[in-house]
Amino acid sequence: MKLIVVSNRLPITVVYRDGKVEFREAVGGLATAINSFLRATEGGRGLGFTKVLWVGWSGVKAELETDEVESELRERGLIPVSLSAEEVELFYEGFCNSTLWPLFHGFTVYTVFERRFWDTYVRVNKKYAEAVASIAKPGDIVWIHDYHLMLMPAFLRQLLPDLAVGFFLHIPFPPAEIYQLMPPTWRNTLLEGVLAADLVGFHTYEYVSNFLRAVAKFLGYRAESGIVRVGRRRVRVGAYPIGIDYAFFHDSSQRAEVAAEIDKLRQRLRGLKIVFSIDRLDYTKGVLNRLKAWERFLKEHPQWRGRAVFVLVVVPSRVGVPQYEAMKREIEREVGRINGELGEVDWTPVVYISRFIPTPTLLALYNIADVALITPLRDGMNLVAKEYVASRRNCTGVLILSETAGASHELLEALIVNPNDESSVAEAIARALEMDLQEQCRRIKAMQKRLSQHDVVKWAAELIHATALAYAENREAAYT
Ligand code: G6P
Repeated sequence: MKLIVVSNRLPITVVYRDGKVEFREAVGGLATAINSFLRATEGGRGLGFTKVLWVGWSGVKAELETDEVESELRERGLIPVSLSAEEVELFYEGFCNSTLWPLFHGFTVYTVFERRFWDTYVRVNKKYAEAVASIAKPGDIVWIHDYHLMLMPAFLRQLLPDLAVGFFLHIPFPPAEIYQLMPPTWRNTLLEGVLAADLVGFHTYEYVSNFLRAVAKFLGYRAESGIVRVGRRRVRVGAYPIGIDYAFFHDSSQRAEVAAEIDKLRQRLRGLKIVFSIDRLDYTKGVLNRLKAWERFLKEHPQWRGRAVFVLVVVPSRVGVPQYEAMKREIEREVGRINGELGEVDWTPVVYISRFIPTPTLLALYNIADVALITPLRDGMNLVAKEYVASRRNCTGVLILSETAGASHELLEALIVNPNDESSVAEAIARALEMDLQEQCRRIKAMQKRLSQHDVVKWAAELIHATALAYAENREAAYT
């Protein structure tokens, strides 16, 4: 039996630089999680699959793709779906990242409703379904990920009815009043599209109940104990909070390349306390609010000037979407202003890195940061928060976390803040830097216990098992 993972983007992104092809790890929670799952289960074999294939986009426009790149990807079990330049613009940058992404995160003023975006979204979802249908056999399990592919379960069912299909949304599902802003045919078709799966998963109960309310309000289907009846089919809908590869992070400081990086960074940062964050460049991540809170903290607690530094890593993302470009410029302006107004010849308040950082450097930063300042305005889950906690092998460190991130439902011992409440975030930074070691350890330990018990393998195994079960029930119902 095969497992076919489907997501808009493959875990490897192809980049052309100076006439050469580079294969880079894709960034973001989805790719990180499924990659961790595959690493920890020896490519799915640990769960009894004969093969795992991953279907998705390679990150380059079809016009630039070459046969060599395609065969190299296929050798790694990655099946590329081509997107033309027009599809990248109207599907990926358009409906996915200018309609669904802002709307589902509650950024209604950024949301664009364009007919051309929608038409291309429908067409591209069909294309992904066809790509999967060409390699799937009855009885295989197909695991579809995220907002790019909400119509895919329905298209796939039409092509191959005998497949177990699971759908997981990695971003929030918004309250029905926000979802209602979407034109009626689109919003109904999207819900029907998702409900063609046997199992539909979300990160939190809040998103599950938002989804079920939308399904009741717009389609008239009621749910009972997490099951929606659609004709003769029963669709299971549930909360499955994603986990991380706990051991990988917890043991990271034991690896030579990470240990070397830790030593190097410690020397360079000369005894400064380190406050750290890393995000994709995205308006949902609240980077500007975070910078303002850091500035306020330094003004209200001047004794920390010259003794603490904020290492802010922002990885480029979705450069073709206008809001992302604008955000980058605003962040740069703010960092420059704060460093200019508060910095000293021998101290820079914000160390700003606006590019991808290698994994050993990231792991070293998790290990040496005294505080992780994770304050998104809205975030489906946020794996950085979990990875930081897991990395704290010596039981120190403080996590400051937004109540608006899905992870706050599990990481209860973090200092929980509202990202728009600047003075509370500033106070939380002061409290974190002054927290005694005993309290740090008590909080970290409690969170680590939960993270180690619910790791990414457990998450994936539970979802896959529940999908297979839901499919078996539906199949039985269809033949009786
Ligand atoms: C979020 C989404 C993922 C996406 C990632 C990176 O985590 O949930 O589906 O892959 O961001 O964004 P990108 O647009 O570069 O794929």
